[in-house]
Formats: sequence, C-alpha cells, structure tokens
Amino acid sequence: MLKGYVQRLLPTRVQRALDQLGEMASVLSEMRDPRVMSSLGPSAVRGLLLKRGKQGRPTLTPSHHQAYFDWSYPGDQPEMAELYARAKRGQWDGDDLPWHLDVDLENADQGMFPLDFLDWELGEELGIKLTPKERVRLITDMGTWSLSQFLHGEQGALLAAAQVTEAVQFMDGKLYGATQVVDEARHVEVFARYLETKAEKLYQINDNLFTIIDALMSDGRWDLKFLGMQIMVEGLALGAFGTMYNKTREPLLKELLKNVIQDEARHVHYGVVALREHITGELDERERREREDWAFEVAMLMKNRFFAYEVYDEWFSHKVSRAKWREFIGRSPGMEEFRTLMFSRLVPNLREIGLLSDRIKPHWERVGLMRFANGRAADKVTAEDLLSGEARAIAA
Ligand SMILES: [Fe+2]
Ligand SMILES: [Fe+2]
Repeated sequence: MLKGYVQRLLPTRVQRALDQLGEMASVLSEMRDPRVMSSLGPSAVRGLLLKRGKQGRPTLTPSHHQAYFDWSYPGDQPEMAELYARAKRGQWDGDDLPWHLDVDLENADQGMFPLDFLDWELGEELGIKLTPKERVRLITDMGTWSLSQFLHGEQGALLAAAQVTEAVQFMDGKLYGATQVVDEARHVEVFARYLETKAEKLYQINDNLFTIIDALMSDGRWDLKFLGMQIMVEGLALGAFGTMYNKTREPLLKELLKNVIQDEARHVHYGVVALREHITGELDERERREREDWAFEVAMLMKNRFFAYEVYDEWFSHKVSRAKWREFIGRSPGMEEFRTLMFSRLVPNLREIGLLSDRIKPHWERVGLMRFANGRAADKVTAEDLLSGEARAIAA
C-alpha cells in the first residue's frame, strides 16, 4: 500500500518505467523451471527490457538449429503427405480478395470490434473519459492494434516455418512445410495490405510477442520451434482470428480472415502431428516436463500481459496509470472474452501432444483455462468447424 502511495507521488514517466520494470521482474520470478528460465530469460530481457522489437529495422536474431537432409526421399509420414496434398489444392491469391470495397472503420456498424467491446462505465470510474466519437476511435485502434500484432505474428510464422522446414526430420514434413512458407507469405501480404490501405496505421510489435518469437527463433531445438510457432503462436492466433471473424461486421476483413483461418487450420494440424509422437514417444520425462512448463509460461506471457500498451502509450500515457489501463482492459467483458477465447484452440492441442499432465493442470485451472481442456484437437477440427462459430468449435 505504501509502495502504491509513494509511486503515485512520482512523475508519470517514472511511474511508467517502474511499472514496466516490475512487470519484467514478475515475468522472470514466475518461471519456476530453471531450464525454462534459461530458454525464455534472455529473450525476455531483449523484448521487455531492451525493447529490441521497437528499435527500427532490422532486428537480427541469432539462430542455432541444424538443417536436416535426407538423400533417400522416403515417403515417411502419410498424414503430412495428405496435408501437403490439401495445401496444394487450397492455395489462393491475396489479390482476389474484395479490396475494392470501401471500408469505413469509424462507422460503428462496420467496425472491427463492436462498441461494447470495452466497458465504458468502468473506464469512467478509472478516469478514462471519452466522447462517443473518441470511443469509436479507440475501438478502431484496438482492432488495428490486434491486426498489427497478427501481422507481426505472421512474419514470425513465415521465418519460423522456413526454419522448421530445414530442421524437420520427415521428408513429407519438408514438402508440406514449403506450402506453409507460401501460406505465411500470403498472410503477411494481406494483413500488411489491409493495414496500409484500409486502417492506414501500423502498431509496433508488442514486447511479449517479440519475446516469444525471439525465444523460438533462437532456440536450437527443432521441437521447441514447432511447439512455439505451430502450437502456441499459431494456436493463439487461430483463436483470436476466429473471435474477430465472428465479431467483425466489416466484409473485407471477414473474407480475409476466413481465407487465413482455412490455412491456419492446416498449420496447427501439422504441429500436432509432428509433436505428438516426438513428445509422447521420444522425449524422456525431464524433457517433456520442460516443454510443458515452457508452454505454460509462454501462454501466460500472452494471457496476463497482452494489454495493448502500444495503444495506451498513444492515448493515455500522460493521463492514466498503466495499472488503471490494465484494469480497464482486464475487466472489460468483451476484451476479457477475446483474450480467453484465444486459448480455446490451444489447450486441447497441448493435451493432444502430451503437455497437459496432472502435474500442470492445477496451474491451468488457476488461470481459468482448464475449461477448454476437453475440446477437440487440431487434427479433429475442420476449417468449417472453425468458421461456424466458437461455441460449436470448442465443444468436444
Ligand atoms: Fe499465418
Ligand atoms: Fe500459420
């Protein structure tokens, strides 16, 4: 209490810096597994403290994986071969989206998110007082911020898919992986085009997302790259895309997300197929536990700290504390639902690949996400399921 009182007496700029430091310290102190700490810790310092993702071009990330060649070209994984065949048939051209449509994001009926996405009464109580016009603009900025993070995640996916294609031991996986590289390039293309020509704005990468991408790109272990990108980042993105697809009334964005979701369904399916045997069959218990803890910590980096501070910095940094903004975002039902539904696709996949043992379940329970544990994993969910509404897709 005294700490809070002393903090309030400090200039806003100092308060903000202290809050950021406190957050990084809590990220590091929550990591119970020292091996997870050594894998995520350096990336957390680069992302949260040094803010490497926000320092302009380029960001150089070292990589340490080994490329795996096989000169005998075996047909070694039928499920991946089937995914490869489906991916070839499922290619589409970003130019064919209805780009000619006039998009007016400031028209509340066409917004990316509905206006009640944020709890304005709660905002007033916390000192966030906005006119009706400003509310529409803030909702639009929250949508633009989300799309910007999707785009940054897609760039991560593009580069990670290329690394994974090099490192994977299955020849069928390499052929399939090449289609994912093309898919991710197309996703970068369409999200970047939408942000440039329709939203006319791009937010910088969120520090937590940077931390995760940095960690999986620089880790030499192929299965951690798979876990980080194909299961965690892609799984969370799929949940977020699905929620936005269902909420938005903007027709171009809806069409764009529909096409992207169909590709992403294959990507996560591939991750589950590649990891299921490896984690349950080849890793020893200590290695499996490390992956289980790593996945939980990465999930928490997204759940507890994905608070759109980039929007806060632009709108409120001199008026309202970060803690109050966090409360506004954290307690607004629409936003809370969005941040929770992101996990609806991820948790069943972790179960499927053997990373949801009784040891870790109480932690998932504590953060309110065990309710997704019985959902269907990616190899049992079709793209149509994903598009037909969250309720059906989540049901077991
Ligand atoms: Fe993608
Ligand atoms: Fe993907």
